[in-house]
Amino acid sequence: MTRELSPVETAKAAAGRRSVDFIEDGMRVGLGTGSTAAFMVRALGERVRKEGLNITGVPTSSQTAELARQEGIRVVALDEAKWLDLTIDGADEFDGDLNLIKGGGGALLQEKIVATASDRMIVIADLAKEVACLGAFPLPIEVVPFGWKTTKLLVEEALDPLDVLGREVTLRMSGDRAFITDNGNHILDLHLGRIADARQLGHMLNQIPGVVENGLFIDICDMVVIGHGDGRVEVRDYSTGDVEKGRIDFPEPDNIFTDIGG
Ligand code: A5P
Repeated sequence: MTRELSPVETAKAAAGRRSVDFIEDGMRVGLGTGSTAAFMVRALGERVRKEGLNITGVPTSSQTAELARQEGIRVVALDEAKWLDLTIDGADEFDGDLNLIKGGGGALLQEKIVATASDRMIVIADLAKEVACLGAFPLPIEVVPFGWKTTKLLVEEALDPLDVLGREVTLRMSGDRAFITDNGNHILDLHLGRIADARQLGHMLNQIPGVVENGLFIDICDMVVIGHGDGRVEVRDYSTGDVEKGRIDFPEPDNIFTDIGG
C-alpha cells in the first residue's frame, strides 16, 4: 500500500536519504534506531540493491537488525566488526555544539557503544529536534532491574544540587509493565526541562551504581543532516565548518517508504 508522507515524515526521509550519500563501498556502518534511522536503513538498502554497494551494517537494536536484513543489508554484531567507519543515527534533541539526547526508542546503550566505536557519527533529524539547550525532551537512562527503585532515589538525590528546571524521574512503561531494553534493563526518564551542564550531568549519572548508561551524547557526533517538511536538507559538518543546502526529490509514489507503519 502506498501513501503520501506527512511533512515530518518527509523531513525524516529527506535526512535519512541524504545521509546515505556519505556511505562508501567497503564501509562498516553503524545503523541507528528510530523512525528517522529506519528511513536511512531503507535508503541504504536501495543503494545496496541498485548499486551493488558492499557494506557491512552493525545495528543498534533488534528492530534495526530486522529491518536491515529485510533490506538486504549484510548485518554483523559489533564484536565481529570491532570498529566502524561511520555510524548514522537519529536523535531526540541536538544543540549548537552537536551534543545530543538519545534513547527515546530505548536503544541508547547500544547506540552509544556503536557510535563511540566509529570514526565518525552523523546524526539525522528533522528541524524540530534542534534546541538552544538540551533537556526539554526527557533524558533516558538505562538502569539494571536489580534495585532500580534505589537507583532511582540515588538519581533524584544527585539531581538535587544541579542547575535544571525539573527533577521528576519516571520508570518507562510498556503497557502495564516496565519497558525492557534489548539488554534486559529498564529505562528511567529524567524530566529536567533544561540541562545547564550536560557534560557534568552525564559524568555524574554514570557514577551511580545501577546506572548502565545515559542518553547524553557529548562530543560524539561530527555532522548533522537536517530534514525539512518540504524535502529540503541542510548538512552541517562540524569538523570543517561547512554547511551545504539541497533538496531531496521523492519519486511519486515513493515505494521505498511505503511500509512505515502509519
Ligand atoms: C532510539 O533509542 C533513539 O535514540 C532514537 O534515535 C531517537 O529517539 C530518535 O528517534 P526518531 O527518529 O524516531 O525521532
